[in-house]
Amino acid sequence: MSAYLKCIEKNCNKTISSTSKAYVCPNCEGLLDVTYDFEIFDPEKIKQIFLKRRSSNSLLDLSGVWRYRELLPFCTDFSKVVSIQEDNTPVYEAPRCAKYVGLKKLNLKHQGLNPTGSFKDNGMTTGVTQANLLGSKIVACASTGNTSASMAAYAARAGIREVMFIHDQQIGLGKLAQSLDYGATTIQLEGDFDESMRLVKEITLERDVYLLNSINPFRLEGQKAIIIELLCQQDWKVPDRIVVPGGNLGNSGSFGKAIKELYDLGFIEKMPMVTIIQAQRANPLYQTLIDRSPRLVKVEAQTLATAIKIGNPVSWKKAVRAMEWTRGWCDFVSEQEIADAKAIIGRDGIGCEPASATTVAGIRKLVQTKEIDPDEDVVAVLTGNLLKDPDYTVNYHQNSLYQEATYRNELLGKKDKIRSTFANGPIKVRADKEAILKVLGL
Ligand code: F0G
Repeated sequence: MSAYLKCIEKNCNKTISSTSKAYVCPNCEGLLDVTYDFEIFDPEKIKQIFLKRRSSNSLLDLSGVWRYRELLPFCTDFSKVVSIQEDNTPVYEAPRCAKYVGLKKLNLKHQGLNPTGSFKDNGMTTGVTQANLLGSKIVACASTGNTSASMAAYAARAGIREVMFIHDQQIGLGKLAQSLDYGATTIQLEGDFDESMRLVKEITLERDVYLLNSINPFRLEGQKAIIIELLCQQDWKVPDRIVVPGGNLGNSGSFGKAIKELYDLGFIEKMPMVTIIQAQRANPLYQTLIDRSPRLVKVEAQTLATAIKIGNPVSWKKAVRAMEWTRGWCDFVSEQEIADAKAIIGRDGIGCEPASATTVAGIRKLVQTKEIDPDEDVVAVLTGNLLKDPDYTVNYHQNSLYQEATYRNELLGKKDKIRSTFANGPIKVRADKEAILKVLGL
């Protein structure tokens, strides 16, 4: 089976070798796909193979990405695979969330339970494996924190030098701690993610450094497994809708590619709609769609969901394509909606980082506006772990979570406080049994 890189621009479609280090089309600078001449003629047989592998102890089968290798067949030498047994993430029924959003039932696929605590591990196992196949000595990325944590872990496992560009604005401390511990050279830049992204792209084009942001199409191959594994876990019963947060828009693009390939190959008979939710003041995709703009409408991003604080997402065209293929759409939610939804996800005993909560908040908004029917079978993908950004959670529960002030409030010298609707702060009590029992009402 052959794999090659193909430009996604319809009027270009240039193909290049899968061993090229190009991240964009050399003709037109369009985004690239890893494309295959699949030789799958009996999807039911492959589904049985996937199922059987769940009881195997081989390294490839233990990975919730490589277990599905027939659907991402670019690797020519499995001894080069770099895996930390990624994915294998649960799908939970979330009754309190369902009630909160107004659905009969809601399932949450928790990618935050990956080895480094986010869905990035799905993409890093394939991205770093490709770096290994190409013999790369240095890998790099710009990151809001999760990509860098994941890249650091996988590159450390592979013995490849890792350099990451993070910005000095609001990176979750859990994420920074991971990169430092995994031994990454961590360059902290002034400015925001978009600025870091621009610089890392320039450096990787000029020097022999392999870029592992989601513009790298091999990363997105691994992220397809989120969809494949979800469908396996549901015995291939296709949900009506899959809801995902939107930041740099690689993940939603990858979901679209997975769904299209599974449909074209006959694994599924309908396509779930991909619904992308952005933060209100970091919503370039939404703005672009509303304006029907052929070019991205960039924004100066502001959100406490720092993972998705991105105003110039590189993979936006793949996200648009995912929505076109699956009849999906994009929407946004406010900081207040994100914070409250996150608290409810916590009450279901699940928990997540703020960016992930855009999904539950977005579903609630779309049920209220009647875009989603209460009977719909919806799966939200939680992308990151609760422990990534503990400050946010503690501040919310202690009534001290502030969002960046709007311009109006800035002029008035006022701060913008998030209401802690579902606050559950610690209670200070004297070290005295009676006092404790009184507080507990016992
Ligand atoms: N959720 C989490 C927890 C993330 O870390 C990210 C992206 C997203 C959602 C958005 O996914 O970019 O594929 O649309 N984090 C990147 C990073 C940008 O650097 O860690 P996307």
